[in-house]
Amino acid sequence: MRVVLGVGGGIAAYKSAELVRALQQRGHEVQVLMTRAAEEFIRPLTFAALTGRKVITGLWAGDGSQDTLSSAVEHIGVAQENDLLVVAPATADLLAKFAHGLADDFLSTLYLAFTGPVVFAPAMNTAMWEHPATQDNLNALRARGCSFVDPDEGWLACGTVGAGRLADPLRIADHIDSHSHRKKDLAGEFILVTAGPTQEALDPVRYISNRSSGKMGYAIAEVAAKRGADVLLVSGPVNLPVPHNVERISVRTAQEMREAVLNHLAEASIIIKSAAVADYYLAEVPQHKLKKTATRLSLELDPTPDILAELGERKGDRLLVGFAAETDNLIEEARRKMTAKKCDMLVANLVNRDGLGFESDQNEVEIITRSGQTVHAGPADKKEIAERILDQVAVLRLVLRAVDTTRLTQRT
Ligand SMILES: Cc1cc2nc3c(=O)[nH]c(=O)nc-3n(C[C@H](O)[C@H](O)[C@H](O)COP(=O)(O)O)c2cc1C
Repeated sequence: MRVVLGVGGGIAAYKSAELVRALQQRGHEVQVLMTRAAEEFIRPLTFAALTGRKVITGLWAGDGSQDTLSSAVEHIGVAQENDLLVVAPATADLLAKFAHGLADDFLSTLYLAFTGPVVFAPAMNTAMWEHPATQDNLNALRARGCSFVDPDEGWLACGTVGAGRLADPLRIADHIDSHSHRKKDLAGEFILVTAGPTQEALDPVRYISNRSSGKMGYAIAEVAAKRGADVLLVSGPVNLPVPHNVERISVRTAQEMREAVLNHLAEASIIIKSAAVADYYLAEVPQHKLKKTATRLSLELDPTPDILAELGERKGDRLLVGFAAETDNLIEEARRKMTAKKCDMLVANLVNRDGLGFESDQNEVEIITRSGQTVHAGPADKKEIAERILDQVAVLRLVLRAVDTTRLTQRT
């Protein structure tokens, strides 16, 4: 991917040199441009040496890099030639400019001319970061579809501790990688993804459910579609938009989820069961609302159908990925579940940790494969976790195909 990196005038500007290296190591081409203030912190020569390219430092002929009339509209050329714009460090000033559409230097003009994905890695003093003006600007840019690699917490150059330190360049590069879908490694696959909770009625107005937001499953569906797969998302009740190029079937109960999954099993080559299906349901739901009384209420619940176990029995040569949300003994429980449900891969996460898992945008998981291999992913944005899960799915798919081909060849 061709990445244009805009460097803003903050203390962290020197870390952008590490970001250039990290992007190059991942196979991306990098064009650097710097604001006037950035040049106070790091010299263009550093980036020119790393990239082997002229660093753009100004909008006007005679402004540093702009030395000929032929490059008078270079901001349009740069906008058209590159696949992604990343701004790191994104200063409070730059975020304000972008949010309001100002265009008084190369970077802000390029931002308006650029139609591809835009990633910001902000860095600033905690008070500046938390200021309502900055937060309003972030929200405006987020609403416009820009993505953010939020700053880390820690010691800041101004001598305080708090949020505002530029995210680790490797984390920024990982995030940028997640936009790089040149590899359509899941093309030709039909992936059935389940997501969200189920709701099991107790009466016409009440139900049993769980805290699953569906974000992990939706992230998997979105990323799988970007990587070329046909994706069918069977979703419990959640408040999330349907990802681009994904077909969604909405269900409410475990029974409805089972039917939807089994109805489409024949088309699927990969099944990723990330839904948090209720374990129990009330078989005889009263037709009228249960009245509140002063006495204890007991309800006899029956187990819901075990969709994962049924898929394990019926999957044939399909690849089956299960999820395990555990509060204790993560790896042992996950291994036990993988064997019991005949999954090819299991994604396990501890759900009793603040800020991760259920309802959160972040997750941290262990990906366990049939061969016993365990891959750790996160803590990271759920889309990045989805990328790592699908990396393992793509590898396992290749391995299973190779094994099948070997078997066929041995038979003939
Ligand atoms: C020593 C020093 C450090 C600075 N560090 C930051 C910073 O980390 N983040 C930030 O948003 N602004 C920082 N500033 C303020 C910006 O440099 C200033 O707002 C400048 O106008 C930004 O220009 P630019 O957004 O065009 O790069 C710093 C200023 C100084 C003098």
